[in-house]
Amino acid sequence: MGEVYVFANQKGGVGKTTSTFNLGVALAEIDQRVLLIDLDPQAGLTYCAGYEPDELEETIYRCLLRDISPWDLILTTKYGVDLLPANIDLAVAEMQLLNVPARERRLTRVINQVRDQYDFIIIDSQPSLGVLTINALAAANKVIVPVSCEFLSIRGTQALLKLIAKIRGQLNSALQVAGLLPTMFDARTIHARQIIKILKTEFKDIHLYPYQVNRSIRFSESAAEQKPIFDVKLQVPGALAYRELARDLVKSKRRDSS
Ligand SMILES: Nc1ncnc2c1ncn2[C@@H]1O[C@H](COP(=O)(O)OP(=O)(O)O)[C@@H](O)[C@H]1O
Ligand SMILES: [Mg+2]
Repeated sequence: MGEVYVFANQKGGVGKTTSTFNLGVALAEIDQRVLLIDLDPQAGLTYCAGYEPDELEETIYRCLLRDISPWDLILTTKYGVDLLPANIDLAVAEMQLLNVPARERRLTRVINQVRDQYDFIIIDSQPSLGVLTINALAAANKVIVPVSCEFLSIRGTQALLKLIAKIRGQLNSALQVAGLLPTMFDARTIHARQIIKILKTEFKDIHLYPYQVNRSIRFSESAAEQKPIFDVKLQVPGALAYRELARDLVKSKRRDSS
């Protein structure tokens, strides 16, 4: 049975999409069967994985609201991961879902149809705590919270953790916070190092991954070229964190299943 992870943070620009894509590719490199799910109408993940969202007719919207089988629209990619794509159609799903019974569990129904065919399913969520993100948290068993190493960026983390606790109580008792992943880390600044300290003290009960994703312009460049960070010419220090994270996820899956 596949482990279902979601990258969640209601702040935009903290690295959810970048992390989903590059972690997925890093997992595929170590022979894991991976499905990435784009649950953001902005469809950055779909683009990164090599597709033009606006040219797609069939997207996850149809699975969520029209009961189309995900197998009818899962796409393969050049990078060894499969993709359940999104486009702007998903923006209306938010409103339409309001009238659907069990609206928080639509994504869970979709994932249940494919879960035994993958080792890891990773969901990229949108930067808000609306019904789509709640669907993602209801469907996942683990959340990774990417936190950009800037003070203003960590301020909303407490609110997210409260929402996660609420979802655990009401919708998904299996949901765990796997950890906080520091992103956009600039080792040259005192500020970034202070943020790591603050994360350690303020969120004592939550695992803080012991590696950081370094800030590097190569991430934006590789996204623009629709390539994973591992495919850019020079080795980027930030890329290592995603490979380490991939190894950690595999280890933790083995531990959980033994
Ligand atoms: N480690 C990093 N260093 C520098 N830029 C990054 C890094 N990770 C992501 N980016 C860039 O920052 C922007 C926001 O990242 P993204 O993954 O889209 O965040 P989110 O999905 O949380 O909104 C994108 O342009 C992306 O290419
Ligand atoms: Mg995003």
